Amino acid sequence: MHNPRLEGKVAIITGAASGIGEATARLFAENGAFVVIADIQDELVEETVSRAVQQYGGLHIMYSNAGILGQSRSILEMDMVDFDHTMAVNGRGTALAIKHAARAMVANQTRGSIICTASLSSMLSGSGPHAYTASKHALLGLVKSASTELGKYGIRVNCISPFGVATGMTRKLVDDDSAEKTTASMAILKGIRLKAKHVAEAALYLGSDDSTFVTGHNLVVDGGVSITGSDSLSFFRQLFFGPASPTS
Ligand SMILES: NC(=O)c1ccc[n+]([C@@H]2O[C@H](COP(=O)([O-])OP(=O)(O)OC[C@H]3O[C@@H](n4cnc5c(N)ncnc54)[C@H](O)[C@@H]3O)[C@@H](O)[C@H]2O)c1
Repeated sequence: MHNPRLEGKVAIITGAASGIGEATARLFAENGAFVVIADIQDELVEETVSRAVQQYGGLHIMYSNAGILGQSRSILEMDMVDFDHTMAVNGRGTALAIKHAARAMVANQTRGSIICTASLSSMLSGSGPHAYTASKHALLGLVKSASTELGKYGIRVNCISPFGVATGMTRKLVDDDSAEKTTASMAILKGIRLKAKHVAEAALYLGSDDSTFVTGHNLVVDGGVSITGSDSLSFFRQLFFGPASPTS
């Protein structure tokens, strides 16, 4: 490849078995990175970070991408076990990834890049279940907060907020074609279907030296959906919360 943008960099990607994480692992490797695929539990992230540092001599990029949608239920019937689990995977898991990556980067004096997958649900309501929206809002707050402290070490912390991409996550709700068509119909940018590789390209930008002065940023990959009016998300409000009027 001409001009590989991550030559010699060591990257850890969580949730890389499918979807956005898998597409990013491929793109990072094509761009010269050593890619380590990780799970998100505490011990495993810590172990993975130290293994990457020992094996490759450092850690330059942490992409905390693993996440779950959780259950779609009315808040009147909210399942608190599901709420806790969603917060644990999306919120706590991200906190652990940031913590252990930052510890390794600080210890090795690496001006690293930490990237997290948020969602449009980090900024808007009605584009996901309640716990999912809460967890992604929390994730965005954490990214801003962590970037504020870690800037003094030269460590950048950013997140990416995609709109609907056909992956294992959306497949629990709709087929791939419907997922892509729905996103395309809501986007103001026409003539393209959002794919996992487009999100991976945003991660490549944030992981590379092309974004060297970018931190605390939420990079939205949504074809402009988030700047349109609330009507554009009515499909999702119906999907997650049911009809607009009470049915009883
Ligand atoms: N697909 C979308 O429309 C969309 C939109 C916005 C944000 N996102 C976010 O993108 C990220 C990636 O999701 P995706 O769409 O690629 O879905 P996906 O289901 O294909 O991938 C999620 C990955 O995370 C892993 N994972 C989930 N829970 C885990 C756990 N407890 N431990 C370890 N790994 C775990 C899964 O095994 C899977 O590999 C998530 O954070 C999701 O919230 C997705």
